[in-house]
Amino acid sequence: MTSDGIVDLAALGEDFTRDPYPVYAGLRARGPVHRIRMPEGADAWLVVGYEAGRATLADDRLSKEWDRAAPGLGVRTVAPGATMLGSDAPAHTRLRKLVTRHFTPRRIEELAPRVQEMADGFVDAMLAAPDRRADLVEALSFPLPITVICELIGVPTLDRETFRQWSNTSLSAPALEDRMTAAKAINEYLTRLLDEKRASPGDDLISALIRATDDEDGDHLSGPELLGMAWLLLVAGHETTVNLISNGMLALLAHPDQLAALRADFDGLIDNAVEEMLRYDDPVETATYRFTKEPVEIAGTLIPGGGQLVLVALADANRDPARFEDPHRFDIRRDARGHVAFGHGIHYCLGAPLARLEARIAVRTLLDRCPDLTLDIDPAAIQWRTGMLVRGPEALPVRW
Ligand code: HEM
Repeated sequence: MTSDGIVDLAALGEDFTRDPYPVYAGLRARGPVHRIRMPEGADAWLVVGYEAGRATLADDRLSKEWDRAAPGLGVRTVAPGATMLGSDAPAHTRLRKLVTRHFTPRRIEELAPRVQEMADGFVDAMLAAPDRRADLVEALSFPLPITVICELIGVPTLDRETFRQWSNTSLSAPALEDRMTAAKAINEYLTRLLDEKRASPGDDLISALIRATDDEDGDHLSGPELLGMAWLLLVAGHETTVNLISNGMLALLAHPDQLAALRADFDGLIDNAVEEMLRYDDPVETATYRFTKEPVEIAGTLIPGGGQLVLVALADANRDPARFEDPHRFDIRRDARGHVAFGHGIHYCLGAPLARLEARIAVRTLLDRCPDLTLDIDPAAIQWRTGMLVRGPEALPVRW
C-alpha cells in the first residue's frame, strides 16, 4: 500500500499477473471497494466480490462513455469510432439493437458445422508436428476464434498474425504509446476494409450492417459507428475466446480427474464444463472501464463523481465463496451458472453464444483427436498476458 492509502497492484509485478486470485481475495477480506494503482498505470476504484461486483456492472450511475473520464486519469480508449461498449442508454440501446439479431443462439448454432470444419483443419495441422508437440495457443486457441470472427464479419485477406499483434498490443502493452500506435494501425486497416465493402458488398455481417435499415424506423449505422462496430466485434470476438479455450484446456489438463470425467460423458457434461471454465479462470479478468457520473456509494464506500475510474474484478466475483462453494476448486459438475464472466446488465456479452459454441467444439475436437494430450510445461512456469483486462497464457505447450 502507498502512503496515500492506494493499493499498488503495479508494484506486485509478475506475481500479480501470474496469480491475481490471492491478491483479490485478500482485498475482498477487507471489503468490496478499494483504491488501487493498476499495472497499466492509472489509479482506479476496484470492486471485488460477487454481490458488489454484479451490482456495479448494472449501476447506471456509472457511465461507459470515455468523454466522462476525469482529466488526468491517464487512460484513453483504443476504440475507433463509436461503440456500444462505450455508450450508455439510449445510444447503447440503439447500437445493440442494430446488431443483436445476428447473434441469437439460433443464428449462432447454424455456424456449428463451419466452426467444426475450421477446428478440424487446425487440429490436423497441429497433429502433423513430427515431434508431437505444439503450442496450443498458436495451434488452436488463437486461430479458431479469429478465423470464425473474420469470416463472419467478412475480413477476407486479413493478415492474421499482424492483426493479432496489433490487437494484443492495443489491449495489453504496458506503454500507452504502444497501445495507441497499434490501435491506429487497426483503425486504418478497418477504414480501408469498410471502403472496400461499400464498393463491393459481400455475404457477410459488415456488408449486412452497411445495407441494413432497421425494419421499424429506417435506422442504420453511421460511418464512425460502423468502424466502431467492426473493431468491437473483431477485438471482443477473439481476444476473449482465445483465453477461454486456453484457460479451459489448461484447467482440464491440470485436473486429470475432471478431464477423465468429461471424456467419459462428453455430451452430458460439456455445457456445464464450459460454464465452469468461464468461472474458474475468467478470460476477462476485470470488466471494461466505468466512470462515475455523480458521487456513488458502493457497499458503504463513497466514490466521488466527476469521472472516477471504477473497475469490477470479474475473476474475483467468480471466486467469491459467498456465491460459489469452495471456489478455487475446478469442478465441471458444479452449478457454475450465475458467473459473471460475460458481464451483467445492458452490456452483457453479445457474443456469449458464439464463445460457448467455439469452446465446445474446440474442446471436443482436441479430446477426440488427441486421446493422450498432456501439458508440456509446469503450470507455474506459464507466462500470462499482462494487464488487468484479459487473462490467458501467452503460450500453452502441449504434447501427445
Ligand atoms: C469467452 C469469450 C468471451 C468473454 C469472456 C466475453 C466477455 C465479455 C464481457 C465481460 C463483456 C461486458 C464488459 C463490461 O460490461 O464491461 C462483454 C461485452 C461484449 N462482448 Fe464479449 N466476451 C466473449 C466473447 C465475445 C465474442 C465471441 C464476441 C463477438 C462476437 C463478443 C462481443 C461482445 C460485445 C459486442 C460486447 C459489448 C456489448 C454491449 O456493450 O452491449 N464477446 N463480453
